[in-house]
Amino acid sequence: MTTSSRKLDHIKICLEKPVESECRPFDDLVLIHKALPEIDEADIDTTCSFLGKRLKAPLIIGAMTGGHPDVKEINVRLAEAASELGIALGVGSQRAALEDKSLVDTFSAVRDAAPNIPIIGNIGAVQLKRSGPEVLERLAEMIDADAVAVHLNFLQESIQPEGDKEANGILDAIQSAARGKVPIIIKETGAGIPWEAARDLANAGVKMVDVSGLGGLSWAGVEAYRAAMVGDDELEEMGRLFWSWGIPTPVSIIECKSQGLDVISSGGVRNGLDVAKSLALGAILAETALPMLKPATEDTKAVVKAINPYIRALRISMFLTGCTNVRQLARVPLVVLGRTRVWLDARGFDLRKFSVYRELAK
Ligand SMILES: Cc1cc2nc3c(=O)[nH]c(=O)nc-3n(C[C@H](O)[C@H](O)[C@H](O)COP(=O)(O)O)c2cc1C
Repeated sequence: MTTSSRKLDHIKICLEKPVESECRPFDDLVLIHKALPEIDEADIDTTCSFLGKRLKAPLIIGAMTGGHPDVKEINVRLAEAASELGIALGVGSQRAALEDKSLVDTFSAVRDAAPNIPIIGNIGAVQLKRSGPEVLERLAEMIDADAVAVHLNFLQESIQPEGDKEANGILDAIQSAARGKVPIIIKETGAGIPWEAARDLANAGVKMVDVSGLGGLSWAGVEAYRAAMVGDDELEEMGRLFWSWGIPTPVSIIECKSQGLDVISSGGVRNGLDVAKSLALGAILAETALPMLKPATEDTKAVVKAINPYIRALRISMFLTGCTNVRQLARVPLVVLGRTRVWLDARGFDLRKFSVYRELAK
């Protein structure tokens, strides 16, 4: 099985099957309604800067695809929509294009379609270790990227029949990469990053992580379907068992923030209220991936239509919490309920910082 054909399997499964985790950790967070917002809605400004460029909203369409001729159009539509909306975009793993040059244009077409927005390249951490840090410059050049995400996907690799489980030496590879010219973002793919790994990454010179926590797409789930397709019952069972493995996205945001990293919120971000909650926890931006896949198989307009409500709900959340700019969201009072509260408590985080007492406790 080639990297390229595996990518097509993944897309097909993500389009046709329920592949999300059962938990919705963002539902445990409540932004406190400000009955007297004391701002005019017209004064709300959702812009922010990211990787030296200006965005109209703190949003990224997450890394998904490229690497097969059939998916080039998906990438182009995502790019056109991101460009029209003034938000950032990540491409899927560029590994296939390193292996087969004829696939380069399934990635580079993204930059042609979106000349001005921040675009994030992508490669697996195991691939980085094998190729050496120089590969980042090739990847960045391929799409004129503003940064390259190095993804961690050991949950997925564990459930994949051909999974690559050589995780030894990854931190050293990341440390060398962090010293290079190309800005890197360490990105999970649905299982989150705990503070212990965030501490190691920070010590290795990493400045930014994309948590991609539990709460959205489950790669164990996707690989369970693939295992079933090839009749591997035991691996299918493993996929089902580990379907909801990982650190919930809001918990991961707080844990990574505690280590001084810039944090992108992802994994189950499904609307603009989730974006507002992410920023209230201290994330700089939020990212959504899976919900954009189906619209991108239709046309660019469908992707724009799917993203617009995120921006609208973000504006409403900002109005109802009295924020005229997105940075102010980091100070709005917030209550943490349910399993997320238990998680944070068990991990030793002071809940008062994330409650209505936040303003008083400062
Ligand atoms: C079809 C598909 C392909 C993906 N491929 C990649 C990839 O190549 N590299 C990567 O870092 N993440 C990849 N992801 C993971 C997403 O970028 C994101 O981290 C994850 O889906 C969680 O976000 P979500 O719940 O909004 O989908 C992929 C996701 C989907 C749905």
